[in-house]
Amino acid sequence: MVSTTGFPSTVRRASLTRSQALWQRAQQLIPGGTQTSSKRANQFARGLTPNFLASGCGARVTDVDGNVYLDYSMALCAMVLGYADPHVNEAIQRQLASGTLFSLGHPLEVEVAQRLVEVIPCAEMVRFAKNGSDATAGAIRLARAHTGRDHVLVCGYHGAQDWYIGTTSWTRGVPDSTRGLSHAFAYNDLSGLEALLAQWSGQVAAVILEPVGVTPPEEGFLQGVVEAAHRHGALVIFDEIVTGFRLRLGGAQELFGVVPDLACVGKGMANGMPLAAIVGRRALMQEFERIFFSYTFGGEALSLAAAVATIDKMRSDRVMDHLWTVGERLREGCHRLIEEATLGAFIKVVGYPPRHVLRFFDRHGVESLALKTLFLQETITRGILTLGAHNLSFAHTSEDITWTLAVYREVFETMRRAVEEGDVGHFLRVPVVEPVFRKP
Ligand SMILES: Cc1ncc(COP(=O)(O)O)c(C=O)c1O
Repeated sequence: MVSTTGFPSTVRRASLTRSQALWQRAQQLIPGGTQTSSKRANQFARGLTPNFLASGCGARVTDVDGNVYLDYSMALCAMVLGYADPHVNEAIQRQLASGTLFSLGHPLEVEVAQRLVEVIPCAEMVRFAKNGSDATAGAIRLARAHTGRDHVLVCGYHGAQDWYIGTTSWTRGVPDSTRGLSHAFAYNDLSGLEALLAQWSGQVAAVILEPVGVTPPEEGFLQGVVEAAHRHGALVIFDEIVTGFRLRLGGAQELFGVVPDLACVGKGMANGMPLAAIVGRRALMQEFERIFFSYTFGGEALSLAAAVATIDKMRSDRVMDHLWTVGERLREGCHRLIEEATLGAFIKVVGYPPRHVLRFFDRHGVESLALKTLFLQETITRGILTLGAHNLSFAHTSEDITWTLAVYREVFETMRRAVEEGDVGHFLRVPVVEPVFRKP
């Protein structure tokens, strides 16, 4: 096994005693044991992955038993600079001393709005929210108000609210009347989109999509979405909760040069503080004066102070360049190791350097989820925390990538043997992971 002593800041002890005791208590107190579906135990190598992390610093996290991991989840993409970034911490502490939330507006709202307008191509005005789900729901309400239409077309994941989640396998509790208004189309499928626009002709308020899907956009896809939507009188909303402040400061719209009417950003914008935003064209954004979009904590100052520090550091330290550089080495290294282990038919590395994902495929009788579980089992026991995605941060160093690839060489070798024996289950010490969304 690759020595963790060559990488002294990563330590894996055998015991997860405290984690497991806390997990028992959590299950009595918290339905599902967690607040976020991607943190559920069934997403990880159960019994080997800790359930609770106590702290994070840079790209490393420490669990409640004192084990240290190199993290590639980075709080589900939120930590673009890394955990406990000193500049962001200092900004939060400075603001903390003078108050967190006020009875009227705070100048930081203007400061952050100004920065978003400077960096995001479609942004002329800005409204803040706390979660990505608040932002996407607000953008949809605005589009409905502006067009006087009710239906929406969706592509990707857009959060926990009824208008979207009713299109997934999590339909319990969502009224049929709401579900009937949202229709999903597949990424890179322009003709599928056109068919839905024709089917609901004159009734579609907005087409909302993650501008980068599981695969990159095909030539002309994003522009084609904008043209098709506009031809049918619908607005285009880019859900850049993940791609914003990750692919480029201005998100996928900057990278691909395709500008939507509205966009939603969140995640990396305040480096782990709860902040999201809807941005867009002035004439549209002014609709917010006529629709209700109001949150007590919408102008909360610690997150806004964190956003100023985060965005300023991203600009001054060329953080996006770093994500592309380290991400490219990791992505290409993974691809090479997968090929070397003759696993190319079973695992593909997809996505862009700042965020790429290992996709597992059902092939030759090998079940993809079992193979993914084996990957998660072998990585966590060697000190790497991942959900199968690499969400790079400014804190991931070139040495981290070198070490990760050395670990992965061993991991893929084990997986090669499992595939060759045709019995992945025999190599598993944990139950197979479950998908967040079941297939329809
Ligand atoms: C693309 C996208 N949109 C929206 C959301 C919802 O954001 P939140 O969980 O902050 O409500 C997410 C969360 O993962 C996301 O990835």
